Amino acid sequence: MQYRRLGRSGLQVSELSLGSWVTYHNQVDTRSATEMLAAAFDAGVNFFDNAEVYAQGESEVVMGQAFKALKWNRLDYIVSTKFFWGLSRESNTTVNRKDTLNRKYLMQAIDGSLRRMQLDFIDLIYCHRPDPHTPIEETVRAMSDIITQGKALYWGTSEWSAADIRAAWEIAERHHLHKPVMEQPQYHLFHRQRVEQEYARLYDETGLGLTTWSPLASGLLTGKYRDGIPAGSRGALESMSWIREQLQDPARNAAVGQLDAIAKALGCTLAQLAIAWINRNPRVSTVILGASKLSQLQDNLGALAVTPKLTPEIVAKIDAITLPLAK
Ligand SMILES: NC(=O)c1ccc[n+]([C@@H]2O[C@H](COP(=O)([O-])OP(=O)(O)OC[C@H]3O[C@@H](n4cnc5c(N)ncnc54)[C@H](OP(=O)(O)O)[C@@H]3O)[C@@H](O)[C@H]2O)c1
Repeated sequence: MQYRRLGRSGLQVSELSLGSWVTYHNQVDTRSATEMLAAAFDAGVNFFDNAEVYAQGESEVVMGQAFKALKWNRLDYIVSTKFFWGLSRESNTTVNRKDTLNRKYLMQAIDGSLRRMQLDFIDLIYCHRPDPHTPIEETVRAMSDIITQGKALYWGTSEWSAADIRAAWEIAERHHLHKPVMEQPQYHLFHRQRVEQEYARLYDETGLGLTTWSPLASGLLTGKYRDGIPAGSRGALESMSWIREQLQDPARNAAVGQLDAIAKALGCTLAQLAIAWINRNPRVSTVILGASKLSQLQDNLGALAVTPKLTPEIVAKIDAITLPLAK
């Protein structure tokens, strides 16, 4: 495992990390989470991603219980959470707890996450989506204040436009506040525009780091959806029915079939090929993996050995297959 600076910050994150979306509480209980966190940590993973909204707070509870069981030194791992939807994307009861980055919500949200995770501070906090109804300055001040209070160490954004990230960074620069240091975008073989084009100027000009999500496009890039939706997979979960059409996209599944030949020639799995392809991008600080089972995590960590095998010729072949289908 190698470690990369999170953007311009001094924090070193492992090139592969592990997240809890969909899995924790729904597919992965505390025992299994503890086992997977331990396996990842033993392989050198030092960053674990979470969000307030995942399983309506229960994902933070599971991760907190697992940390407690593992008794790691707090200096040795990095944990994140994200704020925007409140505890539930559906909840519409209080205007201050739904789809917002206003100060009232953010200052309460951090306390809830700390409580659920049983931690004194969280390393990375994210604005989970942009909020066009709150002035960016209000959000920047609240995030910066949370850091000044010592409840979190670094802050960033997720799925913000380049223009909004730059606006936030400039407000912080102007007022000597804590600047956003990282963004969490979707990035995989079929989803590339933002990371490769839209953010291009931000890397050097603001020192933006990236913690990228859904490296396997929710499993599509493993080839498991080529013959329909397998039982027990993410696509089979009732709560994920909205993603089924994307997972069964015929053109993308045919492209995955073509990638299989490249993976076989390299002696790796499709998942490893897709993850290694992301990891070779030096703008990516860490690739956040997802896994519902230990065997998947082990497969995915094997991508580390594949990254050095991706020569420009092989990358050109991969691009010829996937780029025409990428957003
Ligand atoms: N900021 C954001 O808005 C945002 C959004 C999404 C995710 N994220 C973060 O990014 C992390 C990773 O995203 P993701 O879970 O969507 O990643 P992903 O790698 O695209 O999908 C992971 C899922 O694919 C299946 N899978 C993984 N490895 C496999 C393998 N080797 N063989 C077969 N199936 C395999 C598993 O689902 P099944 O076994 O159930 O099929 C697993 O849960 C999340 O946990 C979260 O921390 C952030």
